[in-house]
Amino acid sequence: MNQPPSRAPGANAPAHVKHARLVAWVDEIARLTEAADVYWCDGSQQEYDRLCARLVEAGTFRRLNPLKRPDSYLALSDPSDVARVEDRTFICSERQEDAGPTNNWVAPAEMRATLQTGPDALFKGCMRGRTLYVIPFSMGPLGSHISHIGVELSDSPYVAVSMRKMTRMGRPVLDLLGSDGFFVPCVHSVGAPLQPGQTDVPWPCNPTKYIVHYPETQEIWSYGSGYGGNALLGKKCFALRIASIMGRDQGWLAEHMLILGVTSPAGKKYHVAAAFPSACGKTNFAMLVPPAGIPGWKVTTIGDDIAWIKPGKDGRLHAINPEAGYFGVAPGTNYRTNPNCMDSLRRDVIFTNVALTDDGDVWWEGMTEQPPAHLIDWQGRDWTPETARGADGKLRPAAHPNSRFTVASTNNPALDADWDNPEGVAIDAFMFGGRRSTTVPLVTEARNWVEGVYMAATMGSETTAAQAGATGIVRRDPFAMLPFMGYNMADHFQHWLNMGARLQAAGTPLPRIYCVNWFRKGADGKFVWPGYGENMRVLLWMLGRVEGKAGGHDNAFGISPRYEDLEWNGLAFSREQFAQVIGMDHADWQQELALHGELFQKLAFHLPPDLTRTRERIAAKLAA
Ligand code: OXD
Ligand code: MN
Repeated sequence: MNQPPSRAPGANAPAHVKHARLVAWVDEIARLTEAADVYWCDGSQQEYDRLCARLVEAGTFRRLNPLKRPDSYLALSDPSDVARVEDRTFICSERQEDAGPTNNWVAPAEMRATLQTGPDALFKGCMRGRTLYVIPFSMGPLGSHISHIGVELSDSPYVAVSMRKMTRMGRPVLDLLGSDGFFVPCVHSVGAPLQPGQTDVPWPCNPTKYIVHYPETQEIWSYGSGYGGNALLGKKCFALRIASIMGRDQGWLAEHMLILGVTSPAGKKYHVAAAFPSACGKTNFAMLVPPAGIPGWKVTTIGDDIAWIKPGKDGRLHAINPEAGYFGVAPGTNYRTNPNCMDSLRRDVIFTNVALTDDGDVWWEGMTEQPPAHLIDWQGRDWTPETARGADGKLRPAAHPNSRFTVASTNNPALDADWDNPEGVAIDAFMFGGRRSTTVPLVTEARNWVEGVYMAATMGSETTAAQAGATGIVRRDPFAMLPFMGYNMADHFQHWLNMGARLQAAGTPLPRIYCVNWFRKGADGKFVWPGYGENMRVLLWMLGRVEGKAGGHDNAFGISPRYEDLEWNGLAFSREQFAQVIGMDHADWQQELALHGELFQKLAFHLPPDLTRTRERIAAKLAA
């Protein structure tokens, strides 16, 4: 390295770092963890290339064929470290009620003893033999009034290079922090200290894992995992859990939402923010290509996972994407489902847990209809469609179902011109959608803000590979924030109601709110709605509603389009098929409302009465 990480633990920072509190904290953590040395990341391309070369040497990265996938790498994780660990994620607020019934809670003093201060504290000596990387990052455009800064201290160079793709990382952030700027401290260790002479493994981690948030002091401590949201602490830990608390206290919103721009043939631009649970196609929707039957419309990406939303100077809600890259699920991505994503992945990508082809490229389930004749699978084993069968006789996936790509937003050919605008973009509509094979219609508009908050609060979704445990089970996932909420979920509902009431009182037009579901299945078990680019038809209806032009009809839940209210040019989709995706079955809805009731019972402490009243209104309409 230009600046070799050879200083003693706790050693001084580069001369340009003027922030005494930051320097003292780095010192303190280096001493606690007994890191062998400390390296301050500058975020440069040269630094990235050097660290990647080291990761190749260490066997963590494999360089992909430069003719097929230039400047790209493949990492295969330990088979035990492949996803976020929700059962090991803790909100350690002083009062348990502030974490609420949807979060794991441990008193902060007890957690600090486990992690930092107790006789066997996990962080004591946990970086022995490893370099501590100081990773300064901005969530959001540098210097934006909506952005915030974090500093992650990590013993994983994989984290350092991934953070360079996922955030604005390095020297400019330290310059912006100056001598006393606010930052969120994030400490991360893979929990695998090295004894002198001990050889490292390609993917160090620890079976004991803790992903810990202290709301009062706005700190993050993560131990034992090197994977995704467990380790890239700017993402779920900061930009959702800690930021949701900051938003509650400061009057803004941190949401699990993509943000997209839609431009009409006449050049009018709209912005939509949409919340979907993990692995429900947020990246596909954020990069949507309108079908040929809808000419002249353009969709551009601002973000694919997280939105920070704050009233702008005009009073309207403005959103930024706090991230600068995509950490997306690879399986299922192909030139039909997401051509813009496939083009984003042509070069300069870090892949994790996908399969390796014989010519040094990558492959995952769904990338092509026919798998290659031979692959190395995500666990480094030979894989052929004939031989890779598990004990149950089923074909073993070559790529892990939660395998990922990490790529800078600037690789995206459909990137919105305003993606880095410090003022954000003014939101016209919010969408909330789960994965539901029954019950929930293709699209429903809330008649008012409270009804919209109700839709978001009662969202349910069938689980996928991004969550540990069984897949395909419906779980309530309010605001698609169940695993990402940093405080009491019921207080979040109230926060949304308050934000709406405040904007309304100021006479500001509120964004419309929609509930969507792309995933209804027919009697044959197949999806009825074609999805992907055809979702543009639903977007058009919503924007038509925003303009006061599109029709619809009232149902118990809100307003849905009739067949004639959607644009069908270029798509053969019959009235009967439409009835299957838009219909509301009476018995299904009675059951659904009972489940909303169960959720409300669980969240009864601080549950806004407005939501209970909305449920009663829906029940009465259903009964009528
Ligand atoms: C993600 C998730 O990685 O939601 O974005 O799990
Ligand atoms: Mn997500």
